[in-house]
Amino acid sequence: MGAPEAAVLIRQHLIDPEVCIRCNTCEDTCPIDAITHDDRNYVVDPDICNGCGACVPPCPTGSIDNWRTVPKQAAYSVVEQFGWDELPAQQEIAGDAAPVVAEPATDDGLQHNAALSASSTRAPWSAAHPYLNLHDNRKPVTATVAGNYRLTDTDADSDIRHIVLDFGTEFFPVLEGQSIGILPPGTDASGKPHFLRMYSVASPRDGERPGYNNLALTVKRVVADHEGKPALGVASNYLCDLQKGDRVQVTGPFGSHYLMPNHPGSNLLMICTGTGAAPMRAMTEYRRRLAAGGKPVDGKLMLFFGARRPGELPYFGPLLKLPASFIDMHLAFSRVDGEPKTYVQDKLREAGPAVAELLKGDTFLYVCGLKGMEAGVMDALRDVCIAAGMDWPALHARMVAEGRFHVETY
Ligand code: A2P
Repeated sequence: MGAPEAAVLIRQHLIDPEVCIRCNTCEDTCPIDAITHDDRNYVVDPDICNGCGACVPPCPTGSIDNWRTVPKQAAYSVVEQFGWDELPAQQEIAGDAAPVVAEPATDDGLQHNAALSASSTRAPWSAAHPYLNLHDNRKPVTATVAGNYRLTDTDADSDIRHIVLDFGTEFFPVLEGQSIGILPPGTDASGKPHFLRMYSVASPRDGERPGYNNLALTVKRVVADHEGKPALGVASNYLCDLQKGDRVQVTGPFGSHYLMPNHPGSNLLMICTGTGAAPMRAMTEYRRRLAAGGKPVDGKLMLFFGARRPGELPYFGPLLKLPASFIDMHLAFSRVDGEPKTYVQDKLREAGPAVAELLKGDTFLYVCGLKGMEAGVMDALRDVCIAAGMDWPALHARMVAEGRFHVETY
């Protein structure tokens, strides 16, 4: 006879709110939508989670890999988990309780996940080894603002800034494609300290200024929510208002797979909108410095970059100065008077044969920017490959498996 329901134990899957960086990777990865979040916490619904573990390897911090043995009837609810600032300790379990009931991963769950994983969860084979999680919100590192420059025209819709942070003598190495966490000062509506916000680094590994222990961020001042209602973003407004000499609390670095290949013969295919330009600038600048230093860099760079207008496109001026022999650039503008609305996916189709040719080679693909563009970009890549007689599903799967297909959208 089975144990009474009240005595059945489960291994409940939990996320550590003190370590979690709210990057949404777990929610994106979960094949059965067991992970959800509110304004503060990412949580696992015990009524849905089947313990398949698909979310564990992609988590950049390990905060996802926490488990407590609890009576099934007393599992921590989603509402309870939303209120946590830290994980509860493991409860004492009475000696006569039933053995833990394993919640097996179903085949269905794993297959489902494979179909959804459009992005690599491993780094390119030749990527440099990243440093990870050197500082968390219990032990942030202090950086000093070395500069804060507006990138968009004064009459542009958006205020996008190039912010340079200097780490002095602190050890804080970052690679192109990695992110850092910013801890805004003050507390939220519930009186708790603001949690960190993640920003992708916009400068190469040797610093915004070569040889200096500094890095750059590309930050858009958020003044409206996703529905367009006025709402000031806590971290973005804090960052955009910073003055030279101000001090900032930083965590990280984060990100172990959205990294660039180190072998100079590799091609980079970069697709971005708005502030999604940050990792592309970092990678492009790293390659530019290598080439300028006389290193043999024979891999090709191809960039698709979307913005409303030229004056809204971060780094527009410096980008235009790069020679076509160094980077094949395709800019898409969606709101230029008298011109048709153009998105990056339209430009991908226009340049179809060249894109297909690049995809046949030793190419690493990076997408960064608006969540909405993801589907359009995937459709365009599929169409471009079909037109070139290529098997897109097979190529996509191979690129994902080989750490050559990286998508980061928000
Ligand atoms: P749109 O003019 O339609 O908003 P933003 O300035 O809001 O950060 O957006 C950056 C660029 O991305 C804009 O040109 C914007 O066009 C464009 N964009 C918006 N939605 C999509 C989408 N689904 N696919 C590709 N680009 C998009």
